[in-house]
Amino acid sequence: MNNHRRRVERVGSAAVIVCSCNVISDHQVRSVTAERTVRATSEVYRCLGCSAECGRCARTIRRIMDEALAVAEDHSA
Ligand code: FES
Repeated sequence: MNNHRRRVERVGSAAVIVCSCNVISDHQVRSVTAERTVRATSEVYRCLGCSAECGRCARTIRRIMDEALAVAEDHSA
């Protein structure tokens, strides 16, 4: 799949592109983190059919993953 043609999901608030190399949105990161047991940023890229290019987004993706995992833990407690 051409990453630049990948459709950005919009659920609730507007999606924000967090990885410009692969055109990955914050919504996609949250979705992958909630649906699967991902623990590393590399798994997020792999689940979305791409891989890290420049790596500048890694910290942002990690932060979004941590937020999504915290929300999931709150809901399961
Ligand atoms: S911005 Fe995500 S790999 Fe470059």
